[in-house]
Amino acid sequence: MGKHKIYKILDLLNKKRGFDFSGYRVSLLERRIQKRISGTLSKNFDDYIEYLEKYPDELDNLFDALTINVSKFFRDPLYFNYISKIIVPDLFLTNEKENEKSLRIWSAGCSFGEEPYSMAIIINELISKSKTFIPPKIFATDIDKKALTRAAEGNYSFNSIENVKYSIFEKYFSKVGDQFILANEIKNNVLFSFYDLLDKNHTVPPDCIYGGFDIVLCRNVLIYFNPDYQKIIFDKLYGSLNKNGYLVLGEAEVLAEGFKDKFSRENKWCKIYKKVG
Ligand SMILES: C[S@@+](CC[C@H](N)C(=O)[O-])C[C@H]1O[C@@H](n2cnc3c(N)ncnc32)[C@H](O)[C@@H]1O
Repeated sequence: MGKHKIYKILDLLNKKRGFDFSGYRVSLLERRIQKRISGTLSKNFDDYIEYLEKYPDELDNLFDALTINVSKFFRDPLYFNYISKIIVPDLFLTNEKENEKSLRIWSAGCSFGEEPYSMAIIINELISKSKTFIPPKIFATDIDKKALTRAAEGNYSFNSIENVKYSIFEKYFSKVGDQFILANEIKNNVLFSFYDLLDKNHTVPPDCIYGGFDIVLCRNVLIYFNPDYQKIIFDKLYGSLNKNGYLVLGEAEVLAEGFKDKFSRENKWCKIYKKVG
C-alpha cells in the first residue's frame, strides 16, 4: 500500500471526522487500514475507498481501528507501586512545604479511564492513611469521544480490572451482571475532556486552564507517532510539568532525541522521569 494511498484515506477521515492522523507511523496506519479492508470484505485499497464513499459510517470503524484503546487498571503494576510508594508521598511532602493547594495530574491519552482512575485510587488510599491532605486534581484527556463517554460512566469488564488487588476491589468496585462498577468516590475525582495532543492552539487541555502538573502520564500513546510528531508532543508534556514534576511513559516508549538532558530517569526498571532544569 503506497503512502499516497494512505494519505488519501486520512484526508477523507480528516474532512469527515475532523481529525488528522498524518503524524501516525506509516506501518501502524497500513496495518490498521488493512484490517478494515478485510473487515469490510473489500478486495483492495481502491475498493475500500469506494466502500467508504458509499457507506460513510465505515469512517467510524476506521477511526476506532486507528485509536487503539487497550488499557487496564494498574497496567504494569510495578509502575503504579513505585508511584504510590515513592512519587506521591514525595510530592505530598514537597507540596506541603511549598504550600501548594493541590496535586495536579494529567493522564494524556486516557482511553476508557483505567489509568486516571488508578491514580485516583492510589491517592485516595494514601490520603486515608496519612495526615497530609492535599486534594488531587486529576485531568484525563483523549481524542476518542466514545472512549471518554465510557470513561465517565466507569463500568468495566473483568479484563480491565484483572490487576486490581482484592482489598481495592472490595472497597471501590461493585459487580452488576458481568460489569464492574467503579465507586462515585473515585469517579468524582477525575475530569475527562477531549484534547488532541497535536492541538496547535492549546499547549495544555483547555479544561485544565493551566499546566503546572506534578505528574503527567502519557503511556502507550507516543508509540503510534512518527519521530517528528513525538517531538511536538514531548515539547508539550515537558512544558506542562512543574519543575521536578514526573513524566510517566509506557514500557515500550523512550524519550525523544533532544529531551534526554531535560529529564533524569528515576530508576532502571520503569520509564518514569523527573523534569530537571
Ligand atoms: C493504547 S491507549 C493507552 C491508554 C492508557 N494510557 C494506557 O497506557 O493504558 C492509546 C490512547 O491514545 C489515544 N490517542 C491517540 N492519538 C491521540 C492524540 N493525538 N491525542 C490524544 N490522545 C490520543 C487513543 O484514542 C487511545 O485511547
